[in-house]
Amino acid sequence: MDKLVIQGGNRLNGTVKASGSKNSALPLMAAALLCDTGEITLERIPDLKDIRTFRKLLDYLGVETSYHENTLRISSSDLRCVKAPYELVKQMRASIYVLGPLLARFGQASVSLPGGCAFGPRPIDFHLMAMEKLGASISIEKGFIEAKIKGSRLKGTTIDFPTTTVGATGNTLMAAVLAEGTTLIKNAAMEPEIVTLCCFLEAMGARIDGTGTTTLEIQGVESLDAKDFTNIFDRIETATLLTAGAITGGSITVSDIDPGHLAAVLEKFEESGCSIITDSGSITLEGTDAIARTDVITNPFPLFPTDMQAQWIALMTQAQGTSHVIDRVYHERFNHIPELNRLGARIEIRNNEATVHGPTRLTGTTVMSTDLRASASLVVAGLVAEGVTEVLRIYHLDRGYEQIEKKLNSLGASITRESYQEFG
Ligand code: EPZ
Repeated sequence: MDKLVIQGGNRLNGTVKASGSKNSALPLMAAALLCDTGEITLERIPDLKDIRTFRKLLDYLGVETSYHENTLRISSSDLRCVKAPYELVKQMRASIYVLGPLLARFGQASVSLPGGCAFGPRPIDFHLMAMEKLGASISIEKGFIEAKIKGSRLKGTTIDFPTTTVGATGNTLMAAVLAEGTTLIKNAAMEPEIVTLCCFLEAMGARIDGTGTTTLEIQGVESLDAKDFTNIFDRIETATLLTAGAITGGSITVSDIDPGHLAAVLEKFEESGCSIITDSGSITLEGTDAIARTDVITNPFPLFPTDMQAQWIALMTQAQGTSHVIDRVYHERFNHIPELNRLGARIEIRNNEATVHGPTRLTGTTVMSTDLRASASLVVAGLVAEGVTEVLRIYHLDRGYEQIEKKLNSLGASITRESYQEFG
């Protein structure tokens, strides 16, 4: 097992390139299942554990893939299996993204229920509701979702999500593009990852109106054509790297990113006293030694993303005064807080609100990762903690950050990756 050993106290400066987005790469890979002929080449696919897990799932389904230097080739003409096994779905909840494409292409799917998650319940009822409304019969048998369409093809309908859901919006899009007739998705997610999925589906011949809005209208087509596509950059990785610059009072530029994907986060950086300079393809953050307390409430795009909540809390431990951070998307996504408090932070949690007292002097020690963004917040905190911080179980971090320690070291951090054994 690996840990990151971080020598705190360095100011980060310089320029670093963002990787391709994990959260758009996964639905793009699932959408490739919709093509029964030809090979699809996806560019800017990050080399991450989650991508490798999804490739294992595609392989299990009979889909051929090859990967080299961020280029992924997929050919799903030999797709022969419609089952997503527990062992893979348990590793990565996004495996649920195969449900819509398998139903659309094969008329049936058997997908393991994802099971628990480190930060509370993450139900999939909206996914199942949408598939049923599109004409699938759904039953849960021995921990699996058994889905089968009643007729010969899914049928377009209107689907109105009770709350914004990225995954269910994506799954419904991938089911509806091959359905008979028109599907209207109301309260659709507008995340850049969903916009990217719409663009890829349209490139393959899907007919989608309303991309980037909360109402999507899809005219079903008979089939889609394999098309090559380039993924967007990772906005959450970018925001995490900018947070590393802000917490160390440095000046960093992240290139190859669309600032429009992070407007709400950039506003909060400015509110905290950083200066932000953007151009069409990069963001520069000039940090400050007097970070101002800044409250945050997480919400669906275009507001502040829940995937930046943990990293923001780490930053606010260094702010002058008390900050309030509310997570309106995942009410229990606070496993990073006990670990940050072990570094010397003073953070209280009440329901889905964290109260962060600052500034606090952080002292390096050993801390435990519990989930992807929690581990990122511990790394960010370790950059300013006095002495050495060891972040354990960084397999969580490796799910969503491509060579993060190399990127941070290129900006002046002192981080080494070491293997270790755990007791017991
Ligand atoms: C996606 O998860 C992201 N994952 C998450 O990023 C991100 O935190 C989340 O969207 C919110 O932005 C990927 O894209 C692979 P949701 P997803 O459906 O699709 C509730 C990371 O760190 N809900 O938008 O699973 C749900 O409980 C990961 O990269 C239902 O109640 O999220 C949550 O409260 C973590 N029923 C809210 O909706 C459902 O059927 C939003 O969830 C589905 C969701």
